[in-house]
Amino acid sequence: MSQLFVRKSLADCENDIAERGGLKRSLGKWHLTALGVGATIGAGIFATTGTAIVGDALRPGAGPAIVFSFLLTALTCGFAALCYAEFAAMVPISGSAYTYAYAALGEIVAWIIGWDLIIEYAVGNIGVAIGWAGYFRELLTHFGISLPAWLVTDYRSAHAAAAAVAAGATDVSNQYLASALASAPHLFGLPVIVNVPAFLIVALITIVLVIGIKESANSNNAMVLLKIGIILFFVAVGAFLIKPHHWSDPALGGFAPNGFKGISAGAAIIFFSYIGFDATSTAAEEARDPARDMPFGIIMSLVVCTVIYIVLAVVMTGMAPWNKLGTAEPMITALSLAEGSPGLLSVSRFIVSLGAVIAMASVLLVFQLGQPRIFMSMARDGLLPPFLAKVHPRFKTPYIGTIITGIFVAVFAAFANIAEVVDLTNIGTLFAFVLVSLGVIVLRRIEPDRHRPFRAPLVPLTPIISILSCIYLMTQLPRITWIRFGIWLAAGLVIYFLYSVRHSRLRGRAR
Ligand code: ALA
Repeated sequence: MSQLFVRKSLADCENDIAERGGLKRSLGKWHLTALGVGATIGAGIFATTGTAIVGDALRPGAGPAIVFSFLLTALTCGFAALCYAEFAAMVPISGSAYTYAYAALGEIVAWIIGWDLIIEYAVGNIGVAIGWAGYFRELLTHFGISLPAWLVTDYRSAHAAAAAVAAGATDVSNQYLASALASAPHLFGLPVIVNVPAFLIVALITIVLVIGIKESANSNNAMVLLKIGIILFFVAVGAFLIKPHHWSDPALGGFAPNGFKGISAGAAIIFFSYIGFDATSTAAEEARDPARDMPFGIIMSLVVCTVIYIVLAVVMTGMAPWNKLGTAEPMITALSLAEGSPGLLSVSRFIVSLGAVIAMASVLLVFQLGQPRIFMSMARDGLLPPFLAKVHPRFKTPYIGTIITGIFVAVFAAFANIAEVVDLTNIGTLFAFVLVSLGVIVLRRIEPDRHRPFRAPLVPLTPIISILSCIYLMTQLPRITWIRFGIWLAAGLVIYFLYSVRHSRLRGRAR
């Protein structure tokens, strides 16, 4: 039993680094902030905001009060960020929450977090790829190319759009997606509806990652500036198109049409747009002064994203009736519905879709890069098979893990529904936040004297608030999401007890 909680000492971690050669400590606090922002701004803000505003068959929407959803989630993430920061500064080794948990909480918790991170990284990227495809489709239309709907969506989205049309929806987006059902070819009596662009972008990124990419801090900085630039562009154009009555139209239920229920359901969805600030922690081994700069990077990237999201949400819900924004490309929809010069609106849609496509591709790259490296850490520890730690002789990349991740993400991106994938990612990531926050409390108790370069304030209050608020957001997710997550965790535990306990290097050393 005690073996389940066997912990990897810091000396073990340092030995591992020495064995494989540590990374160069070259990142300052603003580089780390940029890393967090780069991993964070993506499909969440560009694609899922629409569902959070309007709701779907499973939950009510927040309406213009989505601004409060963003605040609620930012607060939750803020408390979790303080806990992440304490860990990241204390165990400044790459591998993120998995590594901290191994050093601090023991093997089985580390395994659960590592397994759970697959949801954050790989499953999350399925959502990002689908979001990317939506904006890519819009971009193509500016070149006069209109793909048939059955090649750019999934069965359930087409079905939902058809239901909306049957219920009287007249907007272009629903009409287009609904056409997939009628136009799709059939195979064995079933309509073939496949999101080809989502599949292809993941395939392309996988090839790039296998060959090897030097993700330099400078190219990331450029990407972050581009993302912020695109959002500021949207805000600047949109600000002139605001009709204040959209924020509180009594005919549509006023500012918060579904009250707090809508706000919190929205908060649980747009949590997706905050995922990634914790990715800063994966660079702990490259931070110049991890004790000071990691907490700064984690917390500052959260602050930057929160401000940007809130401004964007205020403008977007002022541009068009909120109940019309429920598409997978809400910024484009807002620009289509706003009243203004058609020429300016069309150019703006082009610029926003081009920017969104580039921004989301960069998020895909970061997470697609991160997942095989987490596999690699777990395989080096013996918890996953050694082939996942194999490095390509010529390209020097963890190519097997990269390819497996690529196939998994690409295939699901071709067929999955974005809302379902986002819900699953959110529940998994919130659960990882709960474990990290719990870890801070536990470790303060069992190792009070351990050196903590950054101490989260007001422990245990801060982690307790973090745990409770994450659990609250989890409860706002649909039941089916809980069931899927439960199955995922159970599958992970089966693998752990069948494989990992027998191959764990740490247990081997202990024996
Ligand atoms: N936060 C990341 C995104 O929104 C996952 O794309």
